[in-house]
Amino acid sequence: MISFNKATNTFRLDTTNSTYCITIAAKGYVAHSYYGPKIGNDDTTYLLRQMEYPFADSPTFREKLSLLDFLHQEMPTDGVGDFRKTALAVTNSSGNNAIELKYAGYKIVDGCPSLQGLPCVFDKTNKAQTLIITTKDEILGVDVELYYTVFDDTDEIVRSSKIISHAAEPVYIKKAMSLAFDMDNDNYDAITLNGSWGRERHLDRHTINMGTLEACSTRGVTSHQEHPFLAILDKTAGNDNGKVYGVNFIYSGNFSAVIQRNQFDSLRVLMGINPENFCWKLEPGAAFETPQAVLVFSNNGLNGMSHAFHDLYRNHLIRSPYKNQMRPVLINNWEATYFNFDTQKLLDIAREAHKDGIEMLVMDDGWFGKRDFDDNSLGDWVVYEKKLQGGLKNLVDQVNALGMKFGIWFEPEMVSKDSELLRAHPDWAIQIKGREPGMARAQFVLDITRKEVRDYIMDSVEKILHSANIEYVKWDMNRQVCDVGSIDLPADQIGEYFHRYVLAVYEMQERLITNFPNLLLENCSSGGARFDPGMFYYSPQIWCSDNTDATERLFIQEGTAIVYPLSTMGAHVSVCPNHAIGRVTPFKTRGYVALSGTFGYELDITKLSAEDRAMVPQQVALYKKFSPLVREGDYYRIASAAQTVDYDCWASISRDKTRALVTFVQLYNRANYKTRMVKIPGLDANRTYKITWPDEDQKKFPPMTLTGATIMNAGIPIRRDWGDYQGQLIYLEG
Ligand code: GLA
Repeated sequence: MISFNKATNTFRLDTTNSTYCITIAAKGYVAHSYYGPKIGNDDTTYLLRQMEYPFADSPTFREKLSLLDFLHQEMPTDGVGDFRKTALAVTNSSGNNAIELKYAGYKIVDGCPSLQGLPCVFDKTNKAQTLIITTKDEILGVDVELYYTVFDDTDEIVRSSKIISHAAEPVYIKKAMSLAFDMDNDNYDAITLNGSWGRERHLDRHTINMGTLEACSTRGVTSHQEHPFLAILDKTAGNDNGKVYGVNFIYSGNFSAVIQRNQFDSLRVLMGINPENFCWKLEPGAAFETPQAVLVFSNNGLNGMSHAFHDLYRNHLIRSPYKNQMRPVLINNWEATYFNFDTQKLLDIAREAHKDGIEMLVMDDGWFGKRDFDDNSLGDWVVYEKKLQGGLKNLVDQVNALGMKFGIWFEPEMVSKDSELLRAHPDWAIQIKGREPGMARAQFVLDITRKEVRDYIMDSVEKILHSANIEYVKWDMNRQVCDVGSIDLPADQIGEYFHRYVLAVYEMQERLITNFPNLLLENCSSGGARFDPGMFYYSPQIWCSDNTDATERLFIQEGTAIVYPLSTMGAHVSVCPNHAIGRVTPFKTRGYVALSGTFGYELDITKLSAEDRAMVPQQVALYKKFSPLVREGDYYRIASAAQTVDYDCWASISRDKTRALVTFVQLYNRANYKTRMVKIPGLDANRTYKITWPDEDQKKFPPMTLTGATIMNAGIPIRRDWGDYQGQLIYLEG
């Protein structure tokens, strides 16, 4: 999969469907010579065009700047004449900003090296290979190792780097992107994922104009607003056709994702920790590892890209024992009761839920301290006995006695202004000395970069978990990080804070899953502000959004599923009018949309109408039947509400192409609309499929039998339903 051609000084990385070439160029620069569909075993050095610029190869190297102005590079550096956005900036102890990397050697090793304290891909079968290219700046005394891992079963290249100092004095890393490469612009478009609270990860497709396009976060978390994902794709690329380059980042904090289109109409692509507010002091002999970034090439449009990302994350990143298991159908009391509940109320919900096949009660916010509202008690992880009469164990035992599991909510990184914890330790909130820190939701962020703070919080969380049979934790994080100051870090290390914060979150979650190996952990951040692959290393599922409206979820789940497996998307059925936006949609459709995620309920089941309630056991049965297909199958985006205006459609298709579950949601009915023929891709052309509508109330649609070729090219009939927001679930088996 990885080879080195001595004659051409070129490394060649082959994945299932792509080739990536790195060439050691003039003067030892590590250049990027090719990435795209598989190519022949040719000399690719002509692709560097080194001779096209005057004197680029002259013995005196007179025109270094001409070369660096256009050379396609693997790790472009700051301060020495590449005037594009660079990937690495280092200053020495005199404050000079310059680093110039020259090739010094390479190693090809089996497997994937792991990173210290950071989530990273793994390979249980040891069929992955990693190329490590060593580069050096002799003057600065810094080595940079470039890591490239490829797998035998998916199409990714996973990149990161290690910066090692041999300097006599400390040096300061001002920028350390995990991934960089340059490519010719073939009139490409770009896709980014943008949004807001309750509107996370909406697909945004745009022209790549001259200049810089950046998606980034400075919020301490990945954010609702922008996402560490970029796709660069043919103008004509669609769901199943065209070239697509996808870039993603295995990290959960401030990031920057950049496409820069320059004077020569080439594109520079960067992904890494956001250099803004970042500066890492590297002591002599120390090393800094960047998080991993993932690069995917698909010659089969966006679906091909999604399959590659999904496979990597399912097979090589998610560690939880639950990843290949059916998750318990849960009912969460947040939208059911908010803060207004007690033991009796929770037991009423659990009792009724159990009758309908729901398997786990999750007690959300409000069970600790004196938390009757969101303005107090975060950090005081002791049971609020006024609500939980008889204590937590009593409640959990009674829930267990019904035959249900029990789960609980924490927000471990936070402290309320009104809390015993802050009164005892006013300096534990992140703050700049002499400046009143900004509040959000009446809370401050704890300085978890301090070990004593981490230990205190994790001890209190674990005490609760040991006190009763708790099998699930929802780990929330409901505000962003600012006013960054630290009593531990000296002035020249404050720039390390945001990264140290993320490392601290990882350390706390690692401790949790190590000490509770059977715990089902779901991450959350005001909905989906920390939906990122970094969190997959700790939790197999993440709450997608606080917006549970079925039609808003079409946009949110589409943008999420383009990168992340459906098995990771926390999705629940809630009541209408929807609590986030007030829209009314059919209960049936809410179920269909949630079935494409982890599936559960977020409502007071005791108050459901008889008609809706009757659907709950049917929905649970559908989940039981189809969840393995959704979890393990290939996701196909078929039609997007964002583009078609009036309908949305996607499918999960088994790897052997014998089964497919198609979900169709009609957004608006329109007068005189006819039956729509929807073409389902990804089937076996020669196989004959039985097509059924498996939901009870859709038995009205007669089953059909068609070959894969006909279904893929002529389509299946989706009849118009009366009213808006109607859904259909269609099952194909052959
Ligand atoms: C966040 C979460 C919600 C809920 C509340 C509780 O907003 O996203 O699901 O847990 O916090 O305060």
